[in-house]
Amino acid sequence: MITTMKDFTFFSSLEALDAESKYLVHKAKEATQHAYAPYSKFYVGAALLLEDGTYVAGANQENASYPLCMCAERVALYTAASQYPGKKIKKIAVVAHRKNHKELVSASSCGGCRQVMLEYEVRQESPIEVVMFDDNRWIHCASAAALMPFSFDISHLKD
Ligand code: THU
Repeated sequence: MITTMKDFTFFSSLEALDAESKYLVHKAKEATQHAYAPYSKFYVGAALLLEDGTYVAGANQENASYPLCMCAERVALYTAASQYPGKKIKKIAVVAHRKNHKELVSASSCGGCRQVMLEYEVRQESPIEVVMFDDNRWIHCASAAALMPFSFDISHLKD
């Protein structure tokens, strides 16, 4: 079943998503293999599709000093920004599973990652679509800005 809301489309199964999104979800699942999550045991993978067809993946990286843990989305976003400067990000998919479990669990991007997506969206002047699995349905979001209402960005820092 597919339902829509402004900027959001909800799918009851992965199969219902478009081929590009499905493949990006596959890349995000693959990326969970490289999660380093000995503390939360929550394995998160993110995959980005760049404008030229390049894929960039990231997985969460934890640290004994807990505040230093880094989300999968930001690992992928910062990798793209530093390895492929100037290439626009078209879409990001994020998935998660628990240790020793294959089935996906809800992985709604945290506020910090949404803020970082927004930063790059504003910078590249084109939307970054977001695909994630939450509450037993797949969500396609048209832009990072839609995930961050009343957000703070570079425009607020100008005189
Ligand atoms: N995590 C992500 O990688 N992405 C999110 O959007 C939410 C949380 C990670 C951070 C930490 O390693 C683990 O999930 C538990 O919070």
